[in-house]
Amino acid sequence: MKSLSILGSTGSIGRNALQIIAKFPDRFSVRALAANTSIDLLAEQIRLFRPEIAVVGDAYHALVLKKRLPDDSQTEILHGQKGLIQASTLSSVDAVVAAMVGAVGLVPVLEAIRAKKHIALANKETLVMAGTLVMDSARKHGVSVLPIDSEHSAIFQCLQGNHSSDVTKIILTCSGGPFRCLPQEKFSDITLEQALNHPNWSMGEKITIDSATLMNKGLEIIEASHLFGLSMQRIEVLIHPQSIIHSMVAYRDGSILAQLGIPDMKTAIAYALSYPERLDIAQPFPDFARIGSLTFETPDKDRFPCLQLAIDACETGGTLPAVMNAANETAVRAFLNRDISFMDIPKRIRKTMNQHSVIQNPSLDDILQADQWARKFEN
Ligand SMILES: NC(=O)c1ccc[n+]([C@@H]2O[C@H](COP(=O)([O-])OP(=O)(O)OC[C@H]3O[C@@H](n4cnc5c(N)ncnc54)[C@H](OP(=O)(O)O)[C@@H]3O)[C@@H](O)[C@H]2O)c1
Repeated sequence: MKSLSILGSTGSIGRNALQIIAKFPDRFSVRALAANTSIDLLAEQIRLFRPEIAVVGDAYHALVLKKRLPDDSQTEILHGQKGLIQASTLSSVDAVVAAMVGAVGLVPVLEAIRAKKHIALANKETLVMAGTLVMDSARKHGVSVLPIDSEHSAIFQCLQGNHSSDVTKIILTCSGGPFRCLPQEKFSDITLEQALNHPNWSMGEKITIDSATLMNKGLEIIEASHLFGLSMQRIEVLIHPQSIIHSMVAYRDGSILAQLGIPDMKTAIAYALSYPERLDIAQPFPDFARIGSLTFETPDKDRFPCLQLAIDACETGGTLPAVMNAANETAVRAFLNRDISFMDIPKRIRKTMNQHSVIQNPSLDDILQADQWARKFEN
């Protein structure tokens, strides 16, 4: 029996993870759940999974949640970062599913690793901000960081049974998002509704906008470089609009191994939960005859400048990826609030990155300070 803490249980990844967990009560138990403000759904999850603790964003929502639970509920309600750390370090927990969105995920993951918990990682921002610290700490404490991101899960699967010294490069596939075919002159007309309408994947709002700007692929390059210990030069991005090949690994003998499946996160989540076994989650296979053809294109960094910004941040390293991540989170929030246009997102990120004095080999404090500096930066 594996005991789990699910951080971000009410989000797209969290809900999918709980759907899988619910099907295997003899394999998994849920000891902690965490969300921000989705109280109704969290209360329902507490009723179904009876965790030891549940965490919400602040004291107000903790009060609302307590009122929503029956008087005899055994679940302790906590809030804020202290609560998240308790949820990720609980002595009864074996593994933490890191499925919160954004920089808030970093410290709970680092604390979980220090407490020797294995990590199933969806929260890519954690590795973008502090990939070196996280992976060094995981090695030091002897815990695994297993990817949930579908591309990284695909690469992880294609690496099984092979020597990493035989890898020439990895190929991250990318749907291209809703604006793959949109001419540059039409980018100024992009609306929030269009940007939230991803052609293949159903995901949370922030990653959906990141997918539309291709920042998501940029974040994934940085995530992959840390997870698999590869330099930027050995990570290629390939547009694949059907999202059937989730990513590939090219070996020095000319072989390329690919992992395929329908565009649904459950396969990647299930693999991270049960590795090295596979769970029977009744997932349909792609209908190749109906799909007909799988196509590929080179990404266009002129129309999607966020991709180049992430490559620049990764190449410079130090605190710059954390600054880029924070500037992106702030700009995406402003776009979601209809305060800025789609084209303003890369402009704001670039301006913030250009003004940052990079610290190399940063400590966690340096990274958290850089994150705060970028969030306060006046654009
Ligand atoms: N969705 C996908 O298919 C997918 C694929 C690959 C990678 N990822 C990555 O997985 C992560 C989650 O993505 P998502 O699409 O699942 O996001 P989402 O649907 O927006 O869910 C985010 C989750 O984080 C919780 N949360 C946010 N701030 C919090 C805080 N301060 N304290 C506690 N909980 C907090 C949210 O709670 P509330 O509901 O209360 O707001 C929600 O449960 C992201 O890093 C994303 O890049 C997602």
